[in-house]
Amino acid sequence: MKQIVAIYPGSFDPVTNGHLDLIQRASKLFDELIVAIARNPEKGSALFDLDERKDMLRAMTADLTNVSVDTFEGLLVNYVVSKNANVVLRGIRAVSDYEFELQMALMNRKLDQRVETIFMLPAEKYSYLSSRIVREIAHLGGPLTGFVPELVEQRLRQKVKSNGEKKQ
Ligand code: PNS
Repeated sequence: MKQIVAIYPGSFDPVTNGHLDLIQRASKLFDELIVAIARNPEKGSALFDLDERKDMLRAMTADLTNVSVDTFEGLLVNYVVSKNANVVLRGIRAVSDYEFELQMALMNRKLDQRVETIFMLPAEKYSYLSSRIVREIAHLGGPLTGFVPELVEQRLRQKVKSNGEKKQ
């Protein structure tokens, strides 16, 4: 029987409870799920480097045996093909996500006909959550409980503190 290998690409800077909710749901649907962290030069400087993001994602998905974490550079479709995967998984939180996701999915299909994108919805309690907002709250010293796992909250606090010290 054909194995369905899905790639869940993203910046994950840092991973949030919304991402983890989607990963748990997807791990039940696909034979294998590869969470792929993009080295994305377009996004400017990230808060966490690739290894830090990978480390947090690995820790938070350790109990899911069909989930692995990887990084990639360059075109997503090339990475998907290199992994013999069939599916790109993306989460849609609200209508506002749809336009960008549609553009990306159709462009990826144009770039490589073999790549199908599947959208999934995270739990609605995470529909307002994003890594960008989490980073902003962390910078401003706000509460993060319920938005990210405890480990990620600790790493965020450390990062904000060390960035603050570097600026002094
Ligand atoms: O979590 P994000 O930042 O929304 O993820 C965006 C990501 C990494 C999935 C997207 O930028 C991407 O696929 N980058 C790889 C480069 C690429 O293939 N670009 C063309 C996509 S149409």
